[in-house]
Amino acid sequence: MKRVKITVVGAGNVGGTTAQRIAERDYADVVLVDIVDGLPQGKALDLLQSAPIYGYHTNLIGTTDYADTAGSDIIVITSGVARKPGMSRDDLLKTNAEIVGSVVDQAVRYSPAAVIIVVSNPLDAMTQLTLRRSGFPRHRVFGQAGVLDSARFCTFIAQELNVSIENVHAMVLGGHGDTMVPLSRYTTVAGIPVTELIPPARLREIEQRTADGGAEIVRYLKTGSAFYAPSAATLEMIDAVVRDKKKILPCCVMLEGEYGINGLCVGVPVKLGARGVEEIVELKLTPEEDAALKRSAAAVKELVDVLGV
Ligand code: 2OP
Repeated sequence: MKRVKITVVGAGNVGGTTAQRIAERDYADVVLVDIVDGLPQGKALDLLQSAPIYGYHTNLIGTTDYADTAGSDIIVITSGVARKPGMSRDDLLKTNAEIVGSVVDQAVRYSPAAVIIVVSNPLDAMTQLTLRRSGFPRHRVFGQAGVLDSARFCTFIAQELNVSIENVHAMVLGGHGDTMVPLSRYTTVAGIPVTELIPPARLREIEQRTADGGAEIVRYLKTGSAFYAPSAATLEMIDAVVRDKKKILPCCVMLEGEYGINGLCVGVPVKLGARGVEEIVELKLTPEEDAALKRSAAAVKELVDVLGV
């Protein structure tokens, strides 16, 4: 049987770690691409040499040539510069738009039937750019961010209540930026709404720490941004597609009237399976939650308008 082929574009920390996580799943072959000659080849070879110890059969190649990516089932785009302390994800807009635009042009030429998962920042604008530039239908282009933001929210709630991380299910909507909307009302601990377990003021602080989650790590690292949790979040999305899980996860997707938003890529819960986004799940929001989502969408629209996509 043909093995799934996954291309990871960008061999930096996020791309390299994502390639490693895919390899360790042992269900797909991986092509790691970068414009810096030597970087993808070196990392792919290093990962390949881990196979005898780790016990996976993944074939990995590193390349600067998109011809090697031909016929990929999934393309993960992690290319672009990462932010430095004091920068917001939005500060990366123009630089990363040029990089991501050129990646999309080359990648889709060789893999016209692929599902594309966007990880580059600013996430929502890069997802919209990728969708428009690829000409793909919306179910085959979506961005990773809600899974990462929800994982951060889960982590902080589990720490706060001193419970297993396995008990916590969180939901974060909106753009992957300062305006993201951690949705406490849809966040549960062993099925119990977290709003019944943590007082409102403390919950607000945890929501705020979630929204600042990426910046907190940038402040520690100083020269780059997070990559372990972002790559883990990306893998959860890849798993859902490769294994046709029909898993409901918050992802950045083009909305066409859902949530009262039209023509904009924003994070909402979707059902992910072999076809990509198989359904957009519409939660009932309170007026306050709805207003917060609309504020977040407006912030995304500002960036999208700058790019004209
Ligand atoms: C983060 O939130 C890099 O955007 C990514 O850490």
